[in-house]
Amino acid sequence: MLDFTYYTPTKVVFGRNAETQTANLVREFGGKKLLIHYGGGSVIRSGLLQRITDSLHAAGISYVTLGGVVPNPRLSLVYQGIELCKTNHIDFILAVGGGSVIDSAKAIGYGVVNEGDVWDFYDYKRKAKGCLPVGVVLTIAATGSEMSASSVITKEEGLIKRGYSSDFARPKFAVMNPELTMTLPDYQTACGCTDILMHTMERYFNGSGTMEITDALAEGLLRTVMENARILVKDPKNYDARAEIMWAGSLSHNGLTGCGSDGGDWATHKLEHEIGGLFDVAHGAGLAAIWGSWARYVYKDCLPRFVKFAVNVMGERRPDVQADGQPGSTQADEALALRGIEDMEAFFREIKMPTNLRELGVNATDGQLAEMARKCAEGVGGCAGSAKKLREEDMLAIYRASR
Ligand code: NZQ
Ligand code: ZN
Repeated sequence: MLDFTYYTPTKVVFGRNAETQTANLVREFGGKKLLIHYGGGSVIRSGLLQRITDSLHAAGISYVTLGGVVPNPRLSLVYQGIELCKTNHIDFILAVGGGSVIDSAKAIGYGVVNEGDVWDFYDYKRKAKGCLPVGVVLTIAATGSEMSASSVITKEEGLIKRGYSSDFARPKFAVMNPELTMTLPDYQTACGCTDILMHTMERYFNGSGTMEITDALAEGLLRTVMENARILVKDPKNYDARAEIMWAGSLSHNGLTGCGSDGGDWATHKLEHEIGGLFDVAHGAGLAAIWGSWARYVYKDCLPRFVKFAVNVMGERRPDVQADGQPGSTQADEALALRGIEDMEAFFREIKMPTNLRELGVNATDGQLAEMARKCAEGVGGCAGSAKKLREEDMLAIYRASR
């Protein structure tokens, strides 16, 4: 068990009609002149944006709007948002949408408060000294960005996708009405569920430090998300299932399932970010496509965790007598760990997620795989992972195995 700091300052307002409280929350956190940031139009079609602007208007809070955030949000729009905020003396950013909108809002917030090029933070050249306050009305359960410190932005030049984390960017509030996620396409719902699982699995498969309470929370979260993701495949309007998934999304990435460990592995995320950067795929689907290859590559180096996962999460049973006749032998544990990995892949297929790059729709050339491995190693400063330390050649081997 390692020492830890747990910091989760976001005020969460959760449930039906929660968005009606947005104007009050903005006022509570001192917002007087807002930038309302949103995506490609789902919040216009659903009427959510109109309801929010009406309520702000009624509350006498002024705002400007900036839509157009795309999945894998782009740096050019961040620059545009920074200028808009400076010109209009914006003091608060309201993100209405999913992880991409929230991340773009956080990046704009950094750019307004700090001098110089905001990309420097994503390029690990320097650290932010602050961020404009950000509030969130969440429309998709996935990234956990509504409570997380991180923000992931893609720079068009060179197609570089990088994340930056700092507590300054943790949203002041998150409004979460599970009903708002009912307009999601099934594919995006499944991508979101995968991302939620992965945020806890990244922390679960670590090389040092565990706590029983953290493991129990993580295992319960993983089982709950799988159970409710299956319900949503058949019944997408099921409120309770939407609510379970939505809350799990926040808990999965607000630090709770990492307390007492070394922070987790995160190699699957790093590998996926390169796929997203180069091929512009949905983040959750990219994770599902690469995870199995990562897991098979590393499981022997993190065997007790993979065995625990197989038994406590996937419901595998330890055989009384192991395959080689030796209870608890390494060989038997490896077989058990592999069954856990196969079970998770079977679950991904059940919710119609890909389990390799081909199924993801990515036909990467050898050169592109090498480019992703190079960029990934560069982005992590040489070495990624905690379950097993991965260098560029390991990353390339995993990409190749995932084709
Ligand atoms: O743009 P609109 O029209 O709103 O459509 C979006 C988008 O096409 C749509 N959508 C969202 N809510 C909807 C809806 N459609 C209908 N009804 C609704 N209620 O869904 C699509 C995906 O939205 P997006 O925001 O891109 O999804 P997500 O929340 O999965 O965010 C993905 C981004 O977040 C990053 C990912 O890498 C990716 O760039 N991540 C951010 C993290 C963080 N900040 O903590 C952690 C994650 O690991 C992740 O890397
Ligand atoms: Zn993620």
